[in-house]
Amino acid sequence: MSDTAKLEIGGNSYEFPLVKGTENEVAINVKTLRAATKGVITIDPGYKNTGSCESAITFLDGEKGILRYRGYSIEELAAKADFLEVAYALIFGDLPNKEQLDKFKNDIKEHSLVDDDVRKILEAFPKTAHPMGVLSSLTSALTAFNPAFVDINSEEDMYHAVVRILGKFPVLVGWTMRKQKGLHLNYGKKSLCYIENIMYLMFKQPNEEFQMNPIIKNALDKLLILHADHEQNCSTSTVRIVGSSHAGLYASLSAGISALWGPLHGGANQAVLEMLEAIKADGGDTKKYMAKAKDKNDPFRLMGFGHRVYKNFDPRARIIKAAADEVLNDLGVNDPILEIARGLEKEALIDPYFVDRKLYPNVDFYSGIIYRAMGIPVEMFTVMFALGRLPGWIAQWKEMRLNQEPIGRPRQIYTGENLRPFVELDKR
Ligand code: CMC
Repeated sequence: MSDTAKLEIGGNSYEFPLVKGTENEVAINVKTLRAATKGVITIDPGYKNTGSCESAITFLDGEKGILRYRGYSIEELAAKADFLEVAYALIFGDLPNKEQLDKFKNDIKEHSLVDDDVRKILEAFPKTAHPMGVLSSLTSALTAFNPAFVDINSEEDMYHAVVRILGKFPVLVGWTMRKQKGLHLNYGKKSLCYIENIMYLMFKQPNEEFQMNPIIKNALDKLLILHADHEQNCSTSTVRIVGSSHAGLYASLSAGISALWGPLHGGANQAVLEMLEAIKADGGDTKKYMAKAKDKNDPFRLMGFGHRVYKNFDPRARIIKAAADEVLNDLGVNDPILEIARGLEKEALIDPYFVDRKLYPNVDFYSGIIYRAMGIPVEMFTVMFALGRLPGWIAQWKEMRLNQEPIGRPRQIYTGENLRPFVELDKR
């Protein structure tokens, strides 16, 4: 393959260099396009063909169903590593050795207190507030309690910022749920591991001992690992673009949480459960909803199906499906919602509409089912996604700053009115 791309516009020919990744992905570098052509730009709504950056964090091949963090396969990481090991690899580039991992875990515990004044902010929210909105606000509020800017060129400064946010975020997650449920707030327990502490922060009751089922612990660990990064998705691109203005880490993360909230992105896990409940309440007729999903005059979409990048299968969905079976069997869950989910999945996998468009169950189709079996309220599902995605957002923010990427500022093709005279108010 030649290492340039040729473009002809109005009889003029231009050449642009090709950029090749370590997995042989190819891009045309159009950096000089506008200057060379005196004004021509590319347009690509939804960025379906546009790379926003070069990144060494996550490799994803949607056609082959491959997902790797820092070169390690998602299957191997989910089977052999724990969430904080994966977080370390994503953020710092390699899996930690024992000493590094022990220190990392300990430092996170040492930073797991949140200023008590954050409670006051939480208290001002109505109980009906969606936990994602509360989480985004509280994450942004952390800026006020940790006002020092992170010096991106100082490894020590960056390390402290990382352990601080990883320590405090589960507390905010627990508090958003407790606020909604009217439960007392707590600060977790240092003697517990990260995963156990998350469940403690959410579920510890003042009048009973806290016990964690090891199958649930293992499943939650896997879920968080599977969600930890997914290259340039909507929320990650948001974190990078907000950070590209040199806004602080907490502000950038808060914006990422808002982006994740939407039902086409992380909010899909809540939307899946709500959809399954609605189908159940409507008599459980999956065929009716399949028909609605295919009807172009009906806005209904089968939530939990389809993916911008995966056009074969979602490797995360495979792992989660197996974990879901394990959790449901162990807990003896017999949930009518599951039957509806299985019915939809079976029909969609052979339906020409879904097959032709390569629409397969995605990570969110199964994650909600596990969360529900764990007793996590539906509105908290996307918060759990955010908890998992946190290391990915941090890693991408750090990489973007270290690579000295310019401020993200797309262009546009203007389609509005041409110059027209101002009309005085009494003449309109
Ligand atoms: N149900 C019915 N039709 C669908 C669905 C669906 N879930 N998803 C896509 N389609 C159709 C779509 O109507 C279009 O049909 P046509 O070619 O006839 O116009 C075709 O498939 C391509 O869809 P698209 O919307 O152009 O694809 P996209 O890459 O822009 O969107 C998506 C990807 C994930 C937003 C979309 O598949 C969707 O809305 N899925 C449901 C929401 C969901 O489960 N989101 C979670 C994604 S995974 C978690 C994460 O964000 O990381």
